[in-house]
Amino acid sequence: MTIMINEIRQINESENRVFDFSGYDIFKKRGNRYEILPNKVYEIIKNRFKSQEIDNIVDLGSGELTLIEKTLGFLDGKKNITCTSVDNCKDVHDRIKEKYRNKVDFVNFVFDDLMNFKEEIPKNSVDVILISHAIYHIDPKKWEELLLSLKSKLKENGIIILISRSIMGEWWNVFKSIEPEIEFYKLKSHIFSENVIEKLSKYNFTKDHITFSLHPKSLDELIKIFKFLYRIPENYILNESLLRSKIKSLSENHLYKDGYKIELYDEILIFEK
Ligand SMILES: C[S@@+](CC[C@H](N)C(=O)[O-])C[C@H]1O[C@@H](n2cnc3c(N)ncnc32)[C@H](O)[C@@H]1O
Repeated sequence: MTIMINEIRQINESENRVFDFSGYDIFKKRGNRYEILPNKVYEIIKNRFKSQEIDNIVDLGSGELTLIEKTLGFLDGKKNITCTSVDNCKDVHDRIKEKYRNKVDFVNFVFDDLMNFKEEIPKNSVDVILISHAIYHIDPKKWEELLLSLKSKLKENGIIILISRSIMGEWWNVFKSIEPEIEFYKLKSHIFSENVIEKLSKYNFTKDHITFSLHPKSLDELIKIFKFLYRIPENYILNESLLRSKIKSLSENHLYKDGYKIELYDEILIFEK
């Protein structure tokens, strides 16, 4: 399947946020999330809509479109689906332009803040709103407003699929032990699904999850992945060797002859209208 980037518009102010593609690329290469997650999203959509046609998907905080491209791949044949992906990071936007140059298909890409873009989605117009690993970038005080607004955009049978990082599993200890420093530097991305669940608990949702694995070949790769998962900037002040030694000792149980083997979970919350 191929994708045409139909740019609806670009945001005015220059986005300085840097996207750590080195960590992301290793995460993709050494893990199987992008095989497992699109499959799961497809399964959720298929179970929900059965033979009913869907024609409108919105993907908020799309990243470089890996997730939506694969999900749409499973939905291939349904060429009448309109998909709009939104991301506000210039690095991501540049990468999308490079990656999908001269290819044709059915994704509209909007380079904008999802909080702005949501205002433009007509009410009762969308079958599926996907928001995968993007909620942490939004101020938690605004999560409720975002959810309520998105719910109003759904068609009668529509769903919001919200994917976030889970605290389940042994690897959680690594995150947990480094969390105080991360908190200290006010990196918002330490937020986990437990925060999302707590904040949105008064709204009904169904819970699901995926388990996926990572096999970084070296400690360096593991640290890069870790920094990506936390969006830890390169100029992060926490002493690099401290971060390194903590990750090294905490992950010793996961070290095998050919590198590390780590299991992670993504939590999936499904909201109806
Ligand atoms: C971790 S990536 C997730 C990409 C994709 N959804 C996935 O699951 O593979 C999060 C993306 O959200 C984007 N993002 C963060 N805040 C945003 C905002 N306020 N509006 C739009 N996009 C945002 C980031 O630029 C980044 O590309």
